[in-house]
Amino acid sequence: MNLVSKYYTVIICFSLTFFTTIQVQSQESKHQKMEAKIDSILSILTLEEKVAMCHAQSKFSTKGVERLGIPEIWMADGPHGVRAEISWDDWAYAGWTNDSITAFPALTCLASTFNPKLAGEFGFSLGEEARYRKKDVLLGPGVNIYRTPMNGRNFEYMGEDPFLASTMVVPYIKGVQKNGVAACIKHFALNNQELWRDKVNVEVSDRALYEIYLPAFKAAVQKANVWSIMGAYNKFRGQYTTHHELLTKKILKQDWKFDGVVISDWSSAHTTEEAAMNGLDIEMGTGTDGLGTTTANHYDQYFLASPFLKKLKTGEIPVSVVDDKVRRILRLMYRTNMSSNRPLGRANNKEHHDVARKVATEGIVLLKNDNNFFPIKDDKNITIAVIGENATRSMTAGGGSSELKPKFEISPLEGLKARYKNAKIIHSMGFASGRSVYDQIMPSPYDADSLKIEAIKVAQKADIVLFVGGLSKSHLQDCEGDDRRQYKLPFGQEELLNDIKEVNKNVGFVLITGNAVEMPWLNKVDGVIQTWYLGSMAGHAIADVISGDVNPSGKLPFSFPKKLEDNGAISFGPTSYPGVDMNQEYKEDILVGYRWHDTKKIEPQYAFGYGLSYTNFKIKNIAVDNKKYAKNGTITITCDVTNTGNSNGAEVVQVYVGKSKSKVKRALKELKGFSKVFLKNGETQAVSVTIDVEKLAFYDESISDWNIEDGTYEIYVGNASNNISKKMNITVN
Ligand code: BGC
Repeated sequence: MNLVSKYYTVIICFSLTFFTTIQVQSQESKHQKMEAKIDSILSILTLEEKVAMCHAQSKFSTKGVERLGIPEIWMADGPHGVRAEISWDDWAYAGWTNDSITAFPALTCLASTFNPKLAGEFGFSLGEEARYRKKDVLLGPGVNIYRTPMNGRNFEYMGEDPFLASTMVVPYIKGVQKNGVAACIKHFALNNQELWRDKVNVEVSDRALYEIYLPAFKAAVQKANVWSIMGAYNKFRGQYTTHHELLTKKILKQDWKFDGVVISDWSSAHTTEEAAMNGLDIEMGTGTDGLGTTTANHYDQYFLASPFLKKLKTGEIPVSVVDDKVRRILRLMYRTNMSSNRPLGRANNKEHHDVARKVATEGIVLLKNDNNFFPIKDDKNITIAVIGENATRSMTAGGGSSELKPKFEISPLEGLKARYKNAKIIHSMGFASGRSVYDQIMPSPYDADSLKIEAIKVAQKADIVLFVGGLSKSHLQDCEGDDRRQYKLPFGQEELLNDIKEVNKNVGFVLITGNAVEMPWLNKVDGVIQTWYLGSMAGHAIADVISGDVNPSGKLPFSFPKKLEDNGAISFGPTSYPGVDMNQEYKEDILVGYRWHDTKKIEPQYAFGYGLSYTNFKIKNIAVDNKKYAKNGTITITCDVTNTGNSNGAEVVQVYVGKSKSKVKRALKELKGFSKVFLKNGETQAVSVTIDVEKLAFYDESISDWNIEDGTYEIYVGNASNNISKKMNITVN
């Protein structure tokens, strides 16, 4: 380097440091200014005004302070779209005509993309829609871990792996909050089933708590700086989680230094004392018991309303307690509805539809593809029979609080008809279930036998059958408020599939679920695509993949066990799931999902991280940059990925780490890094994944802290948890 370039390098480095320092300083001074303003507001608020800000005034809003121009806070569900307006005092829809939105794919689909950048676009678009609808808090995303396939609400979450969920949730939250709308990460914590969710007491080891169930929440707080968090309904170690001494007061607010607002779930607060003292800031929904009833509210009777005020006045609860809550609420307001440079938002625009379609197509997982069943050509000599209720049923209706009112929703049948202009598409419903009504099973209005006879006739006339089935958003399916009761497909689908196979050999399954299902029918079909709940653009996205316009690249965010008993939590019987006498113990401990299948050598039907493509990839030249690492070091794993097939596509390089010799029980391996690469046919790209050694720590119960063990670790590199191309050893000391 000559003298002149040295001179410039010094200047550039100096300027960068200078500007970063200025930036940090200006952020700090902005923060100080905000806190000073909050101090001055606190000094003029009456106790009554402060308390009024700590609880609901309607189903989805809290009071402001009119005399000071402090606004109300407006909230809306949910994780994959902004819910329609709900009435002031009950759960009925308000009947507005301007509240329809874009339905984005549910979060299992987003997780399957293994694409954090896309999660950012998803969050940003969703935040724009929330802002357009004048919402200050968006009640999502959800990051409860997929513990069993029975949980009715798994479709709203990001799968079974804490690293994947943590990686995907951070850009999502940042995207939402760029719009001056607070994300509200939920449900904190251990709300891993819907059955008895409002009463069940969870017992779980500290290790599983810190290693499996908390990391995604921690990432939301510390990496995404989330502005609000929602408590859960269930208990943990005998205390309700919404105002929990360990969870909300200690871990969230003290250890993680969360400076935002803790919002209750709707009716999850239980006592004034605990709500006040253990960190709940805003109480919502009390007296309505989830979505189930329309009991009129008595907002003044809320635990954080009159009873709270009374205790503050008698001095039983110090005023500093309400001041801390109001400080947090005002902070949320300065970040949202009292912010001076808040964008305006927009909804139902082309860009949002494009993001919805992109996430949908990237999240679809190709599970099986014998004899290249997919993609299917648009050939004028082909007749395709599209059979199954899910081909036409709305999947944005139902499911509980994540239910949406989209401006439009393209069904799979519509999507296929729009894409296939030459081939002949014929359709039959085949099977039917009833309307999706919360907490109720509605009978099907159709005669099952007639539907079946008709479907078989249609299948007979076709060259190819696309069976579009799976679950629905109805009670006891993929729906809030209760769990599934069976692992197999409902509504007689298996029997119908068997009969169809008798008359047509070419059958592919378009599986629409948010959960794993039992697949004894797998050998009856040549191809399976797992499509999740895809929202407004569902049909187009499905047709994109079936036609080959988009090469599938989704990877499963949770394992599909062969039998239900192969799932870790279920294998221990009712004390582990769903609990006995409202108590349950997470007996599988840290061995959740693939950690269980791997460690116990129980082969899943489909493994975590698995997903096929229409092309082929080779991962070669896999190496680590060192043999030995210090505890504060970083491991860099490199490899070359080649697309060896005939079409463009994307592959996800997955890096897992294990420690077979350890002083504690370990999973065989755990996901610690991944990278998605897009490759033209024939193209090779170098990929590198870095892992900080500190991320190899386990939660050591003997010291109540994280601990990085010395010794040998195994690094596994592959494209699925059960498809490892190379295993390497490294040492840490
Ligand atoms: C759900 C929450 C939701 C809230 C408001 C509750 O029943 O558990 O996820 O945000 O209702 O609809």
